[in-house]
Amino acid sequence: MGALLRCNGLTRKFGGVVALDGLDLQVEEGEILGLIGPNGSGKTTFFNVLTGVFPATSGEARFGEMPITNFSPQAVYQAGIARTFQRSRLCLPLSLFDNLMVGNHKNLDHGLWFNVVRRRALKRQIEEGRKAARELLELFDPPLAGRLFEPASRVPMIDRRRIEICRALIGKPRLLLLDEPSAGMTRDETRRLMDDLLEARRRLGRLTIVLIEHEMSVIERVTDRCVVLNYGKKIAEGAYRQVAEDPLVRQAYLGLS
Ligand SMILES: Nc1ncnc2c1ncn2[C@@H]1O[C@H](COP(=O)(O)OP(=O)(O)O)[C@@H](O)[C@H]1O
Ligand SMILES: [Mg+2]
Repeated sequence: MGALLRCNGLTRKFGGVVALDGLDLQVEEGEILGLIGPNGSGKTTFFNVLTGVFPATSGEARFGEMPITNFSPQAVYQAGIARTFQRSRLCLPLSLFDNLMVGNHKNLDHGLWFNVVRRRALKRQIEEGRKAARELLELFDPPLAGRLFEPASRVPMIDRRRIEICRALIGKPRLLLLDEPSAGMTRDETRRLMDDLLEARRRLGRLTIVLIEHEMSVIERVTDRCVVLNYGKKIAEGAYRQVAEDPLVRQAYLGLS
């Protein structure tokens, strides 16, 4: 089977800083790929270039057969790639439902004509959206589904992270990009969040994931394979056990020589 995502020579410069330096990377359909590397090694930049937040300086990315280099964020999302952000991007005064529906614009964005004239169809779609939101939250944490109309500000960090992942999943992406989902959480919360994610993935069927994470126990437990970045370049690739032993990786993380 061909790779789901294939990047060749992907490069992004910010002035004199080469944040991403000629990255060749493939993601196979159905795998969980860990993307690791020290702070500032270009992990988030990779997600940003891939999802159209910043254009690539050079290089290309293909999603299945589709060239997606320098697509707009909307077009990348339509193609089937969804992401979460390193810093929480929820709208806290809005309800969990409203926050989830922000991720559902693929299904709800018909314009004023549809919304005013075809009100019955709109009502049905909103009801379907509510059902989908409830079902997704239930997959992650059943009690959370009961709080669908409470403001996001009232739920703890772990639930906010769950909502962000659900928001990315509600449009049924083929590829999910997670940028440090454990940020701001305890180890125990992170473990629970990852268990929920794996369980949701089992029930949703095929979902490919790229996971940026600094918590190595998480990477070890959930990934099939890892790619290690340093100064924007890939320095190692393989199963976690194997890359953790790699002298270049140890040097990059620990300054060992
Ligand atoms: N918007 C930006 N403007 C200028 N420099 C940036 C920007 N985004 C990232 N960088 C720089 O690119 C490098 C890689 O950053 P980043 O991708 O955030 O690393 P990581 O996610 O691995 O910690 C860093 O040197 C960072 O300062
Ligand atoms: Mg980052």
